[in-house]
Amino acid sequence: MSSLNQLRSAFINYFKDRDHLVIPSAPLVPQNDPTLMFVNAGMVPFKNYFTGAETPPAPRAVSVQKCVRAGGKHNDLDNVGYTGRHQTFFEMLGNFSFGDYFKEGAIEHAWAFITRDLGLDPARLMVTIAPDDDDAAALWRKIAGLPDSRIVRLEENFWSMGDTGPCGTNTEIFYDHGDHVPGGPPGSPDEDGDRFVEIWNLVFMRWEQFADGSRKDLPKPQIDTGMGLERIATVLQGVHSNYDTDMFRALIAASEEATGVKAQGEARFSHQVIVDHLRSTSFLIADGVSPSNEGRGYVLRRIMRRAMRHAHLLGAAEPLMHRLTPALVTEMGEAYPELRRAEPVIAETLRQEEERFRRTLGRGMSLLEEATGQVGPGGVLPGETAFKLYDTYGFPLDLTQDAVRALGMSVDLEGFDVAMKRQKDQARDAWTGSGQAAAAGEWFALRERLGPTDFVGHDQGEVTAELLVLMGEGAEIPKAGAGQTVQALFDRTPFYGESGGQAGDTGEVEWQGGRGRVIDTQKQAGDLHVHVIEIESGELAPGARVRLALDADRRTTTRANHSATHLLHAALRNVLGPHVSQKGQMVDGERIRFDFSHGQPLTLEEIDRIEAEVNAVIRQNLPAETKNMAPEAAIEAGAMALFGEKYGDVVRVLTLGRALDGDGAYSVELCGGTHVARTGDIALFKIVSESGVAAGVRRIEALTGEPARRWLLDQALVSRQLAEQFKTPVSEVLGRVEALEAQRRKLEKELADAKRQLAMGGGGAPQAGPEEIGGVQVLARVMDGVGGKDLRPIAEEFKKQIADGIIALVGVAEGKAAVTVAVTGAAKDRFNAAELAKAAVIAMGGQGAGGRPDFAQGGAPDGARAAEGLAALKTAIAG
Ligand code: ALA
Repeated sequence: MSSLNQLRSAFINYFKDRDHLVIPSAPLVPQNDPTLMFVNAGMVPFKNYFTGAETPPAPRAVSVQKCVRAGGKHNDLDNVGYTGRHQTFFEMLGNFSFGDYFKEGAIEHAWAFITRDLGLDPARLMVTIAPDDDDAAALWRKIAGLPDSRIVRLEENFWSMGDTGPCGTNTEIFYDHGDHVPGGPPGSPDEDGDRFVEIWNLVFMRWEQFADGSRKDLPKPQIDTGMGLERIATVLQGVHSNYDTDMFRALIAASEEATGVKAQGEARFSHQVIVDHLRSTSFLIADGVSPSNEGRGYVLRRIMRRAMRHAHLLGAAEPLMHRLTPALVTEMGEAYPELRRAEPVIAETLRQEEERFRRTLGRGMSLLEEATGQVGPGGVLPGETAFKLYDTYGFPLDLTQDAVRALGMSVDLEGFDVAMKRQKDQARDAWTGSGQAAAAGEWFALRERLGPTDFVGHDQGEVTAELLVLMGEGAEIPKAGAGQTVQALFDRTPFYGESGGQAGDTGEVEWQGGRGRVIDTQKQAGDLHVHVIEIESGELAPGARVRLALDADRRTTTRANHSATHLLHAALRNVLGPHVSQKGQMVDGERIRFDFSHGQPLTLEEIDRIEAEVNAVIRQNLPAETKNMAPEAAIEAGAMALFGEKYGDVVRVLTLGRALDGDGAYSVELCGGTHVARTGDIALFKIVSESGVAAGVRRIEALTGEPARRWLLDQALVSRQLAEQFKTPVSEVLGRVEALEAQRRKLEKELADAKRQLAMGGGGAPQAGPEEIGGVQVLARVMDGVGGKDLRPIAEEFKKQIADGIIALVGVAEGKAAVTVAVTGAAKDRFNAAELAKAAVIAMGGQGAGGRPDFAQGGAPDGARAAEGLAALKTAIAG
């Protein structure tokens, strides 16, 4: 009963039998908490239940939550792979009481589960508590019969989610592996040994902490517990390292097989890093994160690349990570179906990133080896070097730290920061707390008070409604007048709130004695539709009866665009492959913008096929079908769900069109947006651009209906104008342009040849031959219509005729003069071409000339003085 998969079910079932509501793991990207990078504890999705901002669905809950710790307060990245206890990705088993049972219930449940259900020997268990938590001490004595010697009071028994959020004192349960393992009990100097391991943390939540350091009592005392699945498995399987449990053994075996390297000695650490990082990166990708250079995407990239360096250390000749995804899906796909659904996306993302990183990895490693060679054992790698590795070779800092650590070295972090600061800072704060976090609390409170907004916009465009709340500057206001911009909540509305990549609606609002423009509609706290209104006349106050009317045309196009986006998504997967997943979308009353994962630019042929498919489904003109279903049932039935999206209890499933080859629907997706009644309402679909937005992410922009028709019309207009210009049918314009281009090239060449011929004296007016000046043979000419560029080949020609002497040419073109002087044979001993050219240039009012002693060129602004220039040149020769 102790495999990871069995343990997970045993835990859930135990608490389910004790009246706990089973809540599935939330996605790793926190849904309503911009202050947090990833879900890093089981309680994170329930934060609002603890603080009282939202009502929990039940007083007791149980979950197995996916967690990632790779940055921020709870960060384990440095240790991962090297100790047996740390992981970037782990599963947290937790039971929760939202104001129901407190310390006593929590301790009773935990003790019974581990000693009865899991069968752990009570003699091997001990606990820690906060220094003055006498209640907890008494309960441990009463319930577990623990003597005071096995109840250790420690200052550190306090747990908080982060700098803000719920917090409280806690009690931790430890397991003693026995005295054959080195290490001491918690609180002792050698507590870091492997003998005593913490297995379960029970937190007695009492306060909410705020950014300014202040604390407020929670509405009721609550319980949050967390037990690492992998750690408890270690204890039950009688091993000392998480990597020796069943699941990790299977993954390491896959890694050994793929690399041909046994997990022994140093290689063991590499395999451990690889399999841990395989789990975190795969789950992050399944939850919609893609590698990038900022925010969450950068954390993902850091973890991926750290693993990829270890693959390189193991000598893997080919990208490794994507070859391990099947093993991971075998191990965990049952418990986490999203992993199975996203498998092609995960594999493709890993493969692309590894190929990309391999291009610089080798060179970066050489630089690193050279630098560490200079630093020597035990030394500090300069921050500049670490930065160069980061900036030029794509080595995340922790990868470099990880690499030098094996050599007993460290990195000069200050130096790295200085170098980094010099670099223009990326939008690194983009994801950390913003005003949004503070305001979010307000909206949740309103949602509790008012309930959800009744959205009637799937079938109505105009309704009467009652104004419930007016907000201005983040606070409720009693009324607002002309010229003010406010946020308003109504009991019902046809206005769609921006979400799921569909823009919010705009339109009109009218009431007795006033009117305003709805310039945007947003969604807050899940299902509140917040109307942003510019009041044009009159006064508006809660209680008012209003008429709400959408901008119908804009909504019609938005509907068509949104439905077309679903068709586009399906067409992309048909044409390019199942690795395509949506990365972002924006549809509004004008256009479609759709971002998706794919490694290279689309070919014209692919674009044509995608457009043709979408338009074929539009012409089927079948009714769009929407059904409300439970999310699991919908996904089971084949609906495409977005990765990392959290869906409510009931979801809308939208079906569009019939498969082009075979049975079934063309597109089935979960979507709460507004859509066409029949596919034919989209009328026309046209892709207008395709581009890259980030590594592995492409963007398509497209139009439907009337805007698409207008776009095509504009293109047609251009061809018509060209046809008129060339006096030829449109179909022949391209041929004409090609012919003209060929003709132009031919004429240009002919012109250049003619000029040279003329200058050389071939054909045209008789030209002066060489003359003798100061005992040297000189060929001196003014050449009309020949620019500086053309003088050089002419001078080269003349050099064949004058074996020992001077060639002095002054060309005149476009009103300017150019001088070229060449000296050949024995004359080189007596004359300097640059000096002679300079004499001519100065005589024509120019600055000077440059070149070698035997060949020089210069220019002057006034071509009319060419003869003067040549005369001065001759005088200079005469000396
Ligand atoms: N939230 C507590 C933890 O993560 C249980 O340890």
